Amino acid sequence: MKLFDLTGRVAVVTGASSGLGRDAAMAYAQAGADVALLARRIDRLEEVKRGIEKIGRKALAVACDVTDEESVKNACNIVLEHFGKVDILLNNAGIAIRGSVEELSVEDWDKVMNTNVRSIFLMTKYLIPQMRERKYGKIVNIASVNAIVADKVPILARHSYNASKAAVRGLTMGLAASYAIDGITVNSVGPGLFESEMTSGTLFANEAFMHMYNNMNPTGRPGERGELNGTILFLSSDASSYVNSQHVIVDGGISIV
Ligand SMILES: NC(=O)c1ccc[n+]([C@@H]2O[C@H](COP(=O)([O-])OP(=O)(O)OC[C@H]3O[C@@H](n4cnc5c(N)ncnc54)[C@H](OP(=O)(O)O)[C@@H]3O)[C@@H](O)[C@H]2O)c1
Repeated sequence: MKLFDLTGRVAVVTGASSGLGRDAAMAYAQAGADVALLARRIDRLEEVKRGIEKIGRKALAVACDVTDEESVKNACNIVLEHFGKVDILLNNAGIAIRGSVEELSVEDWDKVMNTNVRSIFLMTKYLIPQMRERKYGKIVNIASVNAIVADKVPILARHSYNASKAAVRGLTMGLAASYAIDGITVNSVGPGLFESEMTSGTLFANEAFMHMYNNMNPTGRPGERGELNGTILFLSSDASSYVNSQHVIVDGGISIV
């Protein structure tokens, strides 16, 4: 299990105030890492921080808008000053806005692209120099199965989301090609459907959709809480030391049927 052990590592998780990011932050701590938690809702981050401290690891909650350069720069400086280094960067913060190109406003298009793509550019820009200096880094970008498959049903069209997640995939490849020589691996994860603030009031609330989804998915169900963590831990640990630029889909197999 030493391969998966994160003792002594420092991880930064964006979007750690809810859903998949919060669960991944807890999983990092359970694997031995200290964790810096970033998002806008500081009260929610403080709650996650208390949970991490309860299991004996250190945590730091930093309010940050990942779309804003000054906010990201400031948060990265705070984390580096506090922990002295960052070994793992989980770029997880993201939003989805429903709509085809005809339906989406320009503002909503920009919001999705800024939250899902610009954020990764900014976080990586300010954290990768110290990874390069120390010749160690694991960057995991949360993309989506929607980077490679789209929905035909009109009510499910999310064109900005598709574009943003495919861009995450492209950025992952570029970073992976440039920085592996410095001991840094960069991979992306493509979750299928998991219940969270993003999906509970929309997809999970749509009975007809859930019926169709469960019928189509080889496992007969959406992902359950915690089922993304194994992949994130693998890509964040030395177990994946020679895995670089991969897109690991965790969707129960729905994208292949
Ligand atoms: N759930 C799924 O089925 C699914 C499937 C595929 C991919 N994903 C991806 O998984 C990631 C996590 O999603 P989730 O399902 O866990 O959704 P969620 O519960 O809505 O969490 C989204 C997180 O992103 C943060 N965030 C949003 N905008 C931000 C901003 N401008 N600055 C800082 N933080 C921001 C939110 O924190 P604050 O509001 O506190 O800032 C929140 O912690 C996203 O990238 C999403 O696209 C999810």
